[in-house]
Amino acid sequence: MPVDGHPGPTGRRVRIGVVGGGLMGRELVAVAGRWDALVGHPCRPEVVAVADPAPGARDWFSRIPTVSTLTRDWRELVDDDGIDLLYLAVPHDLHEEIYLAAAAAGRDFLGEKPFGIDLGAAGRIAAALEGSPSFVRVSSEMPFFPGAQRAIALAASGALGEIVEVRSGFAHSSDLDRAKPVNWKRQAARCGAIGVMGDLGMHVAHVPLRLGWRPRTVYALLDDIVRERPGPGGAPVPCDTWDNALLACRVPPPTPPRDQGIQRDQGK
Ligand SMILES: NC(=O)c1ccc[n+]([C@@H]2O[C@H](COP(=O)([O-])OP(=O)(O)OC[C@H]3O[C@@H](n4cnc5c(N)ncnc54)[C@H](O)[C@@H]3O)[C@@H](O)[C@H]2O)c1
Repeated sequence: MPVDGHPGPTGRRVRIGVVGGGLMGRELVAVAGRWDALVGHPCRPEVVAVADPAPGARDWFSRIPTVSTLTRDWRELVDDDGIDLLYLAVPHDLHEEIYLAAAAAGRDFLGEKPFGIDLGAAGRIAAALEGSPSFVRVSSEMPFFPGAQRAIALAASGALGEIVEVRSGFAHSSDLDRAKPVNWKRQAARCGAIGVMGDLGMHVAHVPLRLGWRPRTVYALLDDIVRERPGPGGAPVPCDTWDNALLACRVPPPTPPRDQGIQRDQGK
């Protein structure tokens, strides 16, 4: 029990297998490590296994005492009954294959956005999950942040009156460094033809979509600003993704309540 007298997580241990030990795989370990700060939480997550073909990525996890399995083959984790939950955090070109395999094996999993490299892949993943008994969620998304939840509650409450324009943006500056080496997020074949919109765009769109604002028309200004970056050997290699996107979306106005609509017509 922590010194302040509050019980930490009290419930059962949830053994997590991480597929993809990169930025987000390591982030999950950090999140699980902070779980003890939660008061009386009904479960205790523990990362017990990691699959990644890159030895350097796997090595990072060898310092984590709860991790007992390090493998290059994600299928070992999908087949491992000693794992309660999978966290799938891999490049977008692998989402479909690995998410479908996890679903077919009946595994519970947290996947990462965008749930497929393109619309076709996303549709096939969604179809495979339709009616599935598996617990599946997209993890670490904007609407779960307290600030986003406050914004959603405020907009939905009506306290803002008639909303005529919404600006939703995401400033992500590390790509302004043109010396930053290339990675899969800058290559359409691995990230997807939608580029930055598949990498970061859903964070921007997620709160408006959660509020039910479905665009009827979309106008897009897309920029491929950085056309090449240093490759593994330092020589420039092509970057063929959209780096910046500005979307102007028109959303049908909400149907006014009947009385309100009549009043407006009479006032003309
Ligand atoms: N929700 C968020 O806030 C957020 C933030 C960043 C990334 N993401 C998403 O998380 C996912 C991973 O992104 P990242 O930033 O961690 O990328 P990353 O490049 O840092 O890590 C990806 C890891 O996957 C590994 N990998 C490649 N092929 C593999 C295979 N066959 N089996 C297992 N592992 C394999 C790579 O070696 C790498 O270590 C993407 O879907 C990305 O869009 C989400």
